[in-house]
Amino acid sequence: MSSARRKRLTDPRIPSTLRCGEDTAPHHRRFGSGRCYDKDQAQRNERNCRRDPEAGRTSGVCSLENPDMPPSPTLKMNLNQRRQFWEPLIQEGLQKVPTPFYVFSSSPVELALAELKAVETNLGIPVRHWLSFKTQPLRPLLGWWRDRGGGVEVVSEFELRAALAEGFLPGQILVNGPAKHRWLHRHEIPELRVNFDSAAEVRELLPMALKLDWQLGLRFFTSEEFDPESPDWPTQFGFAPDEAVEILGVLRRAGARIETAHFHLRTNVASPEVYSRAIREIAGTCRKAGFTPKHLDCGGGLPPPGLRSRSGKAYDAEFSLEKFAESLHQAIVEFPSLEELWLENGRFVSARSGVLVVRVLDVKERRGLRQLICDGGRTMNALLSIWEGHELFAMPRRAGKQCLTTVYGPTCMAFDQLTRCNLPRSIEPGDHLVWMDAGAYHLPWETRFSHGLAAVLWHDGRHLSIAREPETFDEWWGQWKREHS
Ligand SMILES: Cc1ncc(COP(=O)(O)O)c(C=O)c1O
Repeated sequence: MSSARRKRLTDPRIPSTLRCGEDTAPHHRRFGSGRCYDKDQAQRNERNCRRDPEAGRTSGVCSLENPDMPPSPTLKMNLNQRRQFWEPLIQEGLQKVPTPFYVFSSSPVELALAELKAVETNLGIPVRHWLSFKTQPLRPLLGWWRDRGGGVEVVSEFELRAALAEGFLPGQILVNGPAKHRWLHRHEIPELRVNFDSAAEVRELLPMALKLDWQLGLRFFTSEEFDPESPDWPTQFGFAPDEAVEILGVLRRAGARIETAHFHLRTNVASPEVYSRAIREIAGTCRKAGFTPKHLDCGGGLPPPGLRSRSGKAYDAEFSLEKFAESLHQAIVEFPSLEELWLENGRFVSARSGVLVVRVLDVKERRGLRQLICDGGRTMNALLSIWEGHELFAMPRRAGKQCLTTVYGPTCMAFDQLTRCNLPRSIEPGDHLVWMDAGAYHLPWETRFSHGLAAVLWHDGRHLSIAREPETFDEWWGQWKREHS
């Protein structure tokens, strides 16, 4: 091994998951470089991988081989650098499963958490990051998060059951979301953490909370929250200030263990000022109620760097983590009783941790527009392409003259457009297109529109494995009963 390489392997500034193994041979070289799915080959690959004594520590898939790659943990890489990380994984994925498929990796999640470390310095109290289950309901991610001791935020009965099945302890599970009284009474779990969302929840669940010693919180509704589609109207979550004061009195008189003040503003919050105003408002309400929370749970909402709306506006154009850190400092001043700050960022943590890979099936051209029809797209795999514009690149790399191109999925819907942008004219049927930043809100919004669900691959920082096989016809059609009873 070269000394430069050894240095990179041991460089403490590079997270271990992004340090390359000793074997630098890309997997597509070791496992053959055919572009199409070959099940026999895939099985041979799995067998070889298991037999290969090196395989346990060398995937050769991560590409910090590139000396231009920044040594510090940052995701602010350009498309080319990020492409170098994903390409070998995708090459390997193409040997394992048919397109369309997602590849998700723990490495960018780890880097996003490292970025968030910046807001934790000098706060004087710990910051706890809850994994937002709904954002990325991916089984191996849950296991990875659990193994590093993290907690998970759930908002439904299925999510709670999944968290328990994956081995999270009750104290590592935070139950959020509206209308929990419909289902939470079925789960007699001691020492759960529950943030109440309404007076009806409190009425119905308080006896259970007292009996099972639940650690409770209250979600506050602030004047910063509005319906994103009709901003004149409020959202439906949490307690308005007067309701909060009243219910805090009820909880205190009942002797409940009420410890957390919670708010979640919305996704892609435009500026840290919005957090500051919300924190100030909630602090005022808590003072009025005589409530001194141990935890302030600021929810999610941080915009991931580099992500853009379909019109090209960067969601983080007016956001900086340094300014967000100031908002958190303000929280410590406003709430002298705080022992921990909690964050539940979904998008920021996982958006950059995945890609969607589709294959070009057909090409048309009309009215000056080139049209690529692919085997995956918006309708089935990327609903949020309705409002988000993600980077996209071709494999193999294509160069030359570019032209305005729309990338479509295979469904019989004009709506099924992943993106419209300038792409090389040289892209042809059989090429693969990679839709970046598919790690948040893609899986939960998948559809089975005319087709089965796509395969999912998981990269744990070293190895790539199949997390979910593509849905078969029998699974797709077999969900229906044969006869009506
Ligand atoms: C209560 C709560 N916490 C966290 C999140 C995650 O939000 P984001 O992905 O914008 O960080 C959401 C998203 O809807 C939420 O409702």
